[in-house]
Amino acid sequence: MSYEARFKVWRGDAAGGDLEDYAVEVNEGEVVLDIIHRLQATQAPDLAVRWNCKAGKCGSCSAEVNGMPRLLCMTRMSTFTEDQTITVTPLRTFPVMRDLVTDVSFNYQKAREVQAFSPPTDLQPGEYRMQQVDVERSQEFRKCIECFLCQDVCHVVRDHEDNKTSFAGPRFLMRVAELDMHPLDTADRRPAAKEEHGLGYCNITKCCTEVCPEHIKITDNALIPLKERVVDRHYDPVVWLGNKIRRR
Ligand code: SF4
Ligand code: F3S
Ligand code: FES
Repeated sequence: MSYEARFKVWRGDAAGGDLEDYAVEVNEGEVVLDIIHRLQATQAPDLAVRWNCKAGKCGSCSAEVNGMPRLLCMTRMSTFTEDQTITVTPLRTFPVMRDLVTDVSFNYQKAREVQAFSPPTDLQPGEYRMQQVDVERSQEFRKCIECFLCQDVCHVVRDHEDNKTSFAGPRFLMRVAELDMHPLDTADRRPAAKEEHGLGYCNITKCCTEVCPEHIKITDNALIPLKERVVDRHYDPVVWLGNKIRRR
């Protein structure tokens, strides 16, 4: 069953742009990315969109659909009514390059600022056996496809451009938490979490968790535990030392 849907798609570049109206065919089982591709094929050959896998795994096709950060390839047209106008805009938190494509290099910069995994320098291969519980704790975080939807939605940077220098965003605070939970990591990541990565800016609104296409419980399983450990360290260094030793 086909029908014609009304779309508003943001067209423009760093200098400015506007929403443009399109009427476009929709077929059963299609996702928003299919419609964007049909627009390119039939009406707007120069429409820029970033995508790669069309399977929700590469994290490239992030944009906003009716104002909500979404993967275009995982947003089914069946979630909208046939008479609904669907608005597709670029990620709001990052600078527009062209049409639906944004410059997400903020995230690569934040990734570089996280100190690398730091195992004991004298540890030889085969000398340590990971416990299953330690594997499982971080496995959830490693499902991240780096779509940056959580980075886009977090109000700390979405509404305050000037916070970008001092806030790493949920994806990279989660990375700090993951490394801090690793039994072999020797770095004390708590001072940096607070002072360099801006953990204190997060006021646990959980919007990041809500938009994550991998359903990672970013707030409950990474950010809140990291906050608790930062508080432990701040108020009681003995607790922090005890925790670190216990996890060895
Ligand atoms: Fe995307 Fe989730 Fe990773 Fe954030 S944590 S970048 S929303 S997959
Ligand atoms: Fe932002 Fe997520 Fe915290 S949306 S405020 S990082 S809980
Ligand atoms: Fe790869 Fe959408 S195209 S996640």
